Amino acid sequence: MTEQKSTNVHWHKGDISREDRTQLLGQKGVTLWFTGLSGSGKSTIAVALEKALYQHGKLTYRLDGDNIRLGINKNLGFSAQDRSENIRRIGEISKLFVDAGIITLASFISPYAADRDSVRQLHQEAGCDFVEVFVDCALDQAEARDPKGLYKKARAGEIKNFTGIGDPYEAPQQPEIHLRSDKMSLEQEVNIVIDYLLEHAFIAVS
Ligand code: ADX
Repeated sequence: MTEQKSTNVHWHKGDISREDRTQLLGQKGVTLWFTGLSGSGKSTIAVALEKALYQHGKLTYRLDGDNIRLGINKNLGFSAQDRSENIRRIGEISKLFVDAGIITLASFISPYAADRDSVRQLHQEAGCDFVEVFVDCALDQAEARDPKGLYKKARAGEIKNFTGIGDPYEAPQQPEIHLRSDKMSLEQEVNIVIDYLLEHAFIAVS
């Protein structure tokens, strides 16, 4: 747990509640946490899903590893400690988005189970919903795709701690949703997630 440094700070509650925002938007906020190897398809699925949800009139927001690392987390690298801090900050941001009533699509390798569990706990403590989506893809498939040419660099020793090559990836043991991106089509994957959102009443057919 990260230490609370500032003292004499207190939560200031507003007059508009999460329930009010849920009513206003006609949907319930949730974090869909996409975890998986680089090149497994996390961002691709999130992009397709957000488009499908938009077409159904649902409000979403995407938080994506590369994008976040170009902004709020530009001061973090890929050591285990920096990856943990990366995930912790995104976890806090996702929680705020969920509180705002938004279907939040967070796509991060998030290789350490403990870091993902912390994000889950953070949400639970705030009464916010968290859904872990394992984007499961065999390493050789992700490496064959190599959309950014990073596996090639890692094999050549140019990236020392690349996930799956020099660094570990701890697969989720009990994800709420398990996608096999090396076996399913993008459309199938999007439909599985939408069905989950419908079944758990985060969205309703409009
Ligand atoms: S995480 O491990 O901290 O969750 P995150 O999802 O934010 O990673 O960023 C991963 C992206 O950073 C990859 O898709 C890739 O483009 C890039 N990257 C650069 N170096 C590494 C590395 N050593 N390991 C994994 N990804 C890396």
